[in-house]
Amino acid sequence: MTIGKRLADRVAIITGGAAGIGAAIAHAFCDEGARVVVADRDEDSAKRTASTLGANAIAMAVDVTNEDQVRRVVADAVARFGRIDILVNNAGIMRKAYVKDMTEQLWNAVVDVNLKATFLCSKAVLPAMIERRSGRIINIASIAGKIGEPTASAYSAAKWGVIGFTRSLALEVAQHEILVNAICPGPIPTALGQQGWRDGAQVEGVDLDRIMARVGSRSPLRRLGTVEQVAKMALFIASDDCDFTTGSAFNVDGGIVMN
Ligand SMILES: NC(=O)c1ccc[n+]([C@@H]2O[C@H](COP(=O)([O-])OP(=O)(O)OC[C@H]3O[C@@H](n4cnc5c(N)ncnc54)[C@H](O)[C@@H]3O)[C@@H](O)[C@H]2O)c1
Repeated sequence: MTIGKRLADRVAIITGGAAGIGAAIAHAFCDEGARVVVADRDEDSAKRTASTLGANAIAMAVDVTNEDQVRRVVADAVARFGRIDILVNNAGIMRKAYVKDMTEQLWNAVVDVNLKATFLCSKAVLPAMIERRSGRIINIASIAGKIGEPTASAYSAAKWGVIGFTRSLALEVAQHEILVNAICPGPIPTALGQQGWRDGAQVEGVDLDRIMARVGSRSPLRRLGTVEQVAKMALFIASDDCDFTTGSAFNVDGGIVMN
Protein backbone atom coordinates (compact mmCIF):
# COMPACT_ATOMS: atom_id res chain seq x y z
CA MET A 1 0.00 0.00 0.00
CA THR A 2 1.63 3.24 -1.10
CA ILE A 3 -1.17 5.79 -0.63
CA GLY A 4 -0.02 8.76 1.46
CA LYS A 5 3.65 7.90 1.12
CA ARG A 6 6.06 10.58 -0.01
CA LEU A 7 7.35 8.71 -3.08
CA ALA A 8 4.22 6.68 -3.83
CA ASP A 9 4.74 4.72 -7.06
CA ARG A 10 7.77 6.78 -8.16
CA VAL A 11 10.51 4.85 -9.92
CA ALA A 12 14.10 5.48 -8.83
CA ILE A 13 17.47 4.27 -10.08
CA ILE A 14 20.17 4.42 -7.42
CA THR A 15 23.69 3.83 -8.68
CA GLY A 16 26.04 2.25 -6.16
CA GLY A 17 22.85 1.22 -4.37
CA ALA A 18 24.25 -2.06 -3.09
CA ALA A 19 26.08 -0.65 -0.08
CA GLY A 20 26.70 2.34 2.17
CA ILE A 21 24.88 5.58 1.41
CA GLY A 22 23.22 4.18 -1.75
CA ALA A 23 21.70 1.23 0.14
CA ALA A 24 20.39 3.60 2.83
CA ILE A 25 18.78 5.76 0.12
CA ALA A 26 17.24 2.65 -1.45
CA HIS A 27 15.74 1.71 1.94
CA ALA A 28 14.42 5.21 2.58
CA PHE A 29 12.86 5.47 -0.89
CA CYS A 30 11.24 2.00 -0.69
CA ASP A 31 9.84 2.81 2.76
CA GLU A 32 8.15 5.82 1.17
CA GLY A 33 6.53 3.79 -1.61
CA ALA A 34 9.08 4.04 -4.44
CA ARG A 35 10.02 1.23 -6.79
CA VAL A 36 13.79 1.09 -6.78
CA VAL A 37 16.49 -0.20 -9.12
CA VAL A 38 19.62 -1.03 -7.11
CA ALA A 39 22.24 -0.52 -9.84
CA ASP A 40 25.74 -1.55 -8.87
CA ARG A 41 28.83 -3.16 -10.36
CA ASP A 42 28.80 -5.63 -7.43
CA GLU A 43 25.91 -7.78 -8.63
CA ASP A 44 25.82 -10.17 -5.65
CA SER A 45 25.76 -7.34 -3.18
CA ALA A 46 23.09 -5.50 -5.23
CA LYS A 47 20.92 -8.63 -5.19
CA ARG A 48 21.37 -9.02 -1.43
CA THR A 49 20.38 -5.40 -0.82
CA ALA A 50 17.40 -5.57 -3.19
CA SER A 51 16.20 -8.76 -1.47
CA THR A 52 15.97 -6.89 1.84
CA LEU A 53 13.73 -4.26 0.25
CA GLY A 54 10.83 -6.47 -0.82
CA ALA A 55 8.96 -6.77 -4.08
CA ASN A 56 9.41 -3.12 -5.04
CA ALA A 57 13.18 -3.37 -5.57
CA ILE A 58 15.25 -5.09 -8.22
CA ALA A 59 19.01 -5.38 -8.66
CA MET A 60 20.78 -4.60 -11.92
CA ALA A 61 24.48 -5.08 -12.62
CA VAL A 62 26.20 -2.08 -14.18
CA ASP A 63 29.57 -0.44 -14.37
CA VAL A 64 28.48 3.21 -14.44
CA THR A 65 31.62 4.23 -16.34
CA ASN A 66 30.49 2.17 -19.34
CA GLU A 67 27.95 4.03 -21.52
CA ASP A 68 26.53 0.89 -23.17
CA GLN A 69 25.89 -0.72 -19.78
CA VAL A 70 24.32 2.48 -18.44
CA ARG A 71 21.98 2.73 -21.44
CA ARG A 72 20.99 -0.92 -21.04
CA VAL A 73 20.13 -0.50 -17.35
CA VAL A 74 18.01 2.56 -18.05
CA ALA A 75 16.21 0.79 -20.93
CA ASP A 76 15.61 -2.27 -18.73
CA ALA A 77 14.28 -0.09 -15.91
CA VAL A 78 11.87 1.70 -18.27
CA ALA A 79 10.77 -1.64 -19.75
CA ARG A 80 10.15 -3.02 -16.26
CA PHE A 81 8.54 -0.04 -14.53
CA GLY A 82 7.34 2.16 -17.42
CA ARG A 83 9.21 5.31 -16.43
CA ILE A 84 12.00 6.84 -14.36
CA ASP A 85 11.17 9.60 -11.91
CA ILE A 86 14.37 9.81 -9.88
CA LEU A 87 18.04 9.15 -10.61
CA VAL A 88 20.50 9.13 -7.73
CA ASN A 89 24.08 9.33 -9.01
CA ASN A 90 25.70 7.83 -5.93
CA ALA A 91 28.34 5.32 -7.13
CA GLY A 92 31.77 6.50 -6.12
CA ILE A 93 35.30 5.47 -5.29
CA MET A 94 38.07 7.18 -3.34
CA ARG A 95 41.80 6.64 -3.91
CA LYS A 96 44.51 8.59 -2.12
CA ALA A 97 47.88 9.81 -3.39
CA TYR A 98 49.94 12.97 -3.38
CA VAL A 99 49.84 14.61 -6.82
CA LYS A 100 53.60 14.14 -7.26
CA ASP A 101 53.10 10.36 -6.91
CA MET A 102 49.68 10.01 -8.54
CA THR A 103 49.43 7.81 -11.61
CA GLU A 104 47.32 8.76 -14.59
CA GLN A 105 45.47 5.50 -14.06
CA LEU A 106 44.45 6.45 -10.50
CA TRP A 107 43.35 9.92 -11.64
CA ASN A 108 41.25 8.47 -14.48
CA ALA A 109 39.64 5.79 -12.30
CA VAL A 110 38.53 8.31 -9.67
CA VAL A 111 37.31 10.92 -12.15
CA ASP A 112 35.51 8.33 -14.30
CA VAL A 113 33.41 6.81 -11.50
CA ASN A 114 32.69 10.00 -9.59
CA LEU A 115 32.27 12.49 -12.45
CA LYS A 116 32.02 10.92 -15.90
CA ALA A 117 29.45 8.39 -14.72
CA THR A 118 27.28 11.20 -13.34
CA PHE A 119 27.17 12.63 -16.86
CA LEU A 120 26.55 9.23 -18.51
CA CYS A 121 23.70 8.23 -16.19
CA SER A 122 22.07 11.66 -16.33
CA LYS A 123 22.21 11.69 -20.12
CA ALA A 124 20.67 8.22 -20.28
CA VAL A 125 17.60 9.09 -18.13
CA LEU A 126 16.90 12.51 -19.64
CA PRO A 127 14.82 11.42 -22.68
CA ALA A 128 12.34 9.56 -20.43
CA MET A 129 12.16 12.48 -17.98
CA ILE A 130 11.83 15.14 -20.69
CA GLU A 131 9.00 13.19 -22.32
CA ARG A 132 7.07 13.17 -19.03
CA ARG A 133 8.05 16.79 -18.17
CA SER A 134 9.08 15.63 -14.73
CA GLY A 135 12.13 14.25 -12.96
CA ARG A 136 14.64 14.53 -10.15
CA ILE A 137 18.37 13.98 -10.48
CA ILE A 138 20.30 13.83 -7.21
CA ASN A 139 24.08 13.80 -7.42
CA ILE A 140 26.02 12.59 -4.39
CA ALA A 141 29.01 14.93 -4.36
CA SER A 142 31.00 15.53 -1.14
CA ILE A 143 32.29 18.35 1.01
CA ALA A 144 35.52 17.51 -0.86
CA GLY A 145 33.74 19.27 -3.74
CA LYS A 146 33.74 22.52 -1.78
CA ILE A 147 37.12 22.40 -0.01
CA GLY A 148 40.48 20.93 -0.90
CA GLU A 149 41.97 17.89 0.78
CA PRO A 150 45.63 16.79 0.58
CA THR A 151 46.08 13.32 -1.01
CA ALA A 152 42.51 13.49 -2.39
CA SER A 153 42.99 15.87 -5.32
CA ALA A 154 41.46 13.57 -7.94
CA TYR A 155 38.44 12.89 -5.72
CA SER A 156 38.10 16.54 -4.78
CA ALA A 157 38.40 17.67 -8.42
CA ALA A 158 35.78 15.12 -9.46
CA LYS A 159 33.37 16.24 -6.74
CA TRP A 160 33.86 19.94 -7.62
CA GLY A 161 33.06 18.80 -11.15
CA VAL A 162 29.89 17.09 -9.96
CA ILE A 163 28.70 20.34 -8.38
CA GLY A 164 29.48 22.30 -11.57
CA PHE A 165 27.69 19.65 -13.63
CA THR A 166 24.70 19.85 -11.27
CA ARG A 167 24.38 23.61 -11.77
CA SER A 168 24.79 23.48 -15.55
CA LEU A 169 22.36 20.60 -16.02
CA ALA A 170 19.85 22.28 -13.68
CA LEU A 171 19.87 25.30 -16.01
CA GLU A 172 19.49 23.12 -19.11
CA VAL A 173 16.53 21.07 -17.94
CA ALA A 174 14.55 23.48 -15.75
CA GLN A 175 12.36 24.16 -18.82
CA HIS A 176 11.30 20.49 -18.66
CA GLU A 177 10.45 20.62 -14.92
CA ILE A 178 13.43 18.39 -14.09
CA LEU A 179 15.15 19.42 -10.84
CA VAL A 180 18.85 18.67 -10.40
CA ASN A 181 20.52 18.96 -6.99
CA ALA A 182 23.58 17.62 -5.20
CA ILE A 183 24.28 16.42 -1.67
CA CYS A 184 27.66 16.97 -0.03
CA PRO A 185 28.15 14.47 2.79
CA GLY A 186 30.88 14.87 5.36
CA PRO A 187 32.83 11.91 6.77
CA ILE A 188 30.76 8.74 7.13
CA PRO A 189 32.20 5.33 8.14
CA THR A 190 31.16 3.32 5.06
CA ALA A 191 33.54 1.01 3.16
CA LEU A 192 34.63 4.01 1.07
CA GLY A 193 35.11 6.26 4.10
CA GLN A 194 37.07 3.69 6.08
CA GLN A 195 39.24 2.75 3.11
CA GLY A 196 39.95 6.43 2.54
CA TRP A 197 41.10 6.91 6.14
CA ARG A 198 43.30 3.78 6.01
CA ASP A 199 44.83 4.86 2.69
CA GLY A 200 45.30 8.39 4.03
CA ALA A 201 47.23 7.07 7.03
CA GLN A 202 49.44 5.00 4.75
CA VAL A 203 50.08 7.77 2.21
CA GLU A 204 50.80 10.36 4.91
CA GLY A 205 52.85 7.83 6.94
CA VAL A 206 50.91 8.43 10.18
CA ASP A 207 48.87 6.20 12.51
CA LEU A 208 45.22 5.56 11.67
CA ASP A 209 44.38 6.80 15.20
CA ARG A 210 45.81 10.19 14.32
CA ILE A 211 43.77 10.36 11.12
CA MET A 212 40.61 9.35 13.01
CA ALA A 213 41.20 11.98 15.71
CA ARG A 214 41.52 14.58 12.97
CA VAL A 215 38.41 13.36 11.14
CA GLY A 216 36.36 13.20 14.36
CA SER A 217 37.24 16.75 15.38
CA ARG A 218 36.58 18.35 11.99
CA SER A 219 32.90 18.94 12.59
CA PRO A 220 31.64 21.49 15.14
CA LEU A 221 29.27 18.69 16.20
CA ARG A 222 32.32 16.51 16.97
CA ARG A 223 30.94 13.35 15.40
CA LEU A 224 30.88 11.42 12.14
CA GLY A 225 27.78 11.28 10.00
CA THR A 226 25.54 8.31 9.24
CA VAL A 227 24.23 6.94 5.97
CA GLU A 228 20.68 7.48 7.24
CA GLN A 229 21.28 11.23 7.59
CA VAL A 230 22.25 11.44 3.91
CA ALA A 231 19.28 9.25 2.93
CA LYS A 232 16.89 11.60 4.72
CA MET A 233 18.26 14.54 2.71
CA ALA A 234 17.95 12.53 -0.54
CA LEU A 235 14.36 11.66 0.36
CA PHE A 236 13.54 15.32 0.96
CA ILE A 237 15.08 16.39 -2.38
CA ALA A 238 13.29 13.58 -4.24
CA SER A 239 9.90 14.36 -2.72
CA ASP A 240 7.25 16.99 -3.41
CA ASP A 241 8.41 18.73 -0.21
CA CYS A 242 11.30 20.07 -2.31
CA ASP A 243 9.74 21.42 -5.50
CA PHE A 244 11.27 24.90 -5.90
CA THR A 245 14.98 24.12 -5.52
CA THR A 246 17.35 23.25 -8.34
CA GLY A 247 21.10 23.59 -8.87
CA SER A 248 21.80 23.47 -5.13
CA ALA A 249 24.39 21.43 -3.22
CA PHE A 250 23.16 20.56 0.28
CA ASN A 251 25.75 19.83 2.97
CA VAL A 252 25.13 16.91 5.35
CA ASP A 253 28.36 17.34 7.25
CA GLY A 254 27.80 18.46 10.83
CA GLY A 255 28.82 21.99 9.92
CA ILE A 256 32.32 21.41 8.52
CA VAL A 257 31.51 23.49 5.44
CA MET A 258 29.00 26.27 5.80
CA ASN A 259 28.51 27.35 2.20
N1 LIG B 1 31.51 7.80 3.08
C1 LIG B 1 31.87 9.07 3.06
O1 LIG B 1 32.56 9.55 3.98
C2 LIG B 1 31.44 9.95 1.92
C3 LIG B 1 31.58 11.34 2.08
C4 LIG B 1 31.22 12.18 1.04
C5 LIG B 1 30.71 11.64 -0.13
N2 LIG B 1 30.58 10.31 -0.27
C6 LIG B 1 30.06 9.81 -1.55
O2 LIG B 1 28.93 9.01 -1.32
C7 LIG B 1 28.78 8.06 -2.40
C8 LIG B 1 28.59 6.68 -1.80
O3 LIG B 1 29.73 6.34 -1.07
P1 LIG B 1 29.73 5.31 0.15
O4 LIG B 1 30.51 5.93 1.22
O5 LIG B 1 28.36 4.82 0.40
O6 LIG B 1 30.66 4.16 -0.50
P2 LIG B 1 30.55 2.57 -0.49
O7 LIG B 1 31.90 2.10 -0.89
O8 LIG B 1 29.95 2.07 0.77
O9 LIG B 1 29.50 2.28 -1.67
C9 LIG B 1 29.78 2.65 -3.00
C10 LIG B 1 29.02 1.71 -3.93
O10 LIG B 1 29.32 2.14 -5.27
C11 LIG B 1 29.53 0.98 -6.05
N3 LIG B 1 30.37 1.31 -7.20
C12 LIG B 1 31.68 1.74 -7.18
N4 LIG B 1 32.11 1.87 -8.44
C13 LIG B 1 31.08 1.55 -9.27
C14 LIG B 1 30.94 1.50 -10.68
N5 LIG B 1 31.95 1.79 -11.52
N6 LIG B 1 29.73 1.13 -11.19
C15 LIG B 1 28.71 0.82 -10.36
N7 LIG B 1 28.80 0.83 -9.02
C16 LIG B 1 29.98 1.20 -8.48
C17 LIG B 1 30.23 0.00 -5.09
O11 LIG B 1 30.14 -1.34 -5.56
C18 LIG B 1 29.46 0.25 -3.80
O12 LIG B 1 28.32 -0.59 -3.70
C19 LIG B 1 30.05 8.21 -3.23
O13 LIG B 1 29.78 9.00 -4.38
C20 LIG B 1 31.01 8.92 -2.31
O14 LIG B 1 31.99 9.64 -3.01
C21 LIG B 1 30.92 9.45 0.72
